[in-house]
Amino acid sequence: MTAPASRRDFLSLASAAFVGVGGATAMWPFIDQMNPHPGTSRVDQTVVDLAQIAPGQEITVRWNGQPVFIRHRTSDEIARTSSISIDQLRDPFARNAALPVSTLATDANRTAAQFPRWLVVVGLCTHLGCVLRSVSPAEGNDVIAWACPCHAARFDHLGRVRSGPARTNLPVPPHHFETPTRLRIG
Ligand code: FES
Repeated sequence: MTAPASRRDFLSLASAAFVGVGGATAMWPFIDQMNPHPGTSRVDQTVVDLAQIAPGQEITVRWNGQPVFIRHRTSDEIARTSSISIDQLRDPFARNAALPVSTLATDANRTAAQFPRWLVVVGLCTHLGCVLRSVSPAEGNDVIAWACPCHAARFDHLGRVRSGPARTNLPVPPHHFETPTRLRIG
């Protein structure tokens, strides 16, 4: 059995994810936007500029010591996730910090009101906590967005578990849009 990713694994994998969506240079503006919450020593709020993230791209930021994936979903991705009924899901619940625990895992309940193109999820596998890797369409699957390198759990473009040993969807952390291109997590 492979052990869950260590902090060192997280840092290296997160770096790889940054490079994977458009080059390290392009990602520095996002990193610069991370702000500690006033009055605390811990980074529990992260502000992200979304202006340069095109449809189909995603970035990874750090929030509360965890990787958070921010994905700009394409129209095709939204159409595919919207077409999946709740009874096809292993975990029917939204796992959205902003909503009651019994809320269902629909597109509307997994994304912020008025900003359905953006998905914000904690990027740790819900099986044993490994950092997930992005799955590109070139890998031959247009439903799966993230896969776990440990025991192969797979999550769709709404961060919902679709196969493997994980049992719950990726958590949606508290977040809101200050403007259409400025996101605050936490
Ligand atoms: Fe086991 Fe992800 S940690 S499938």
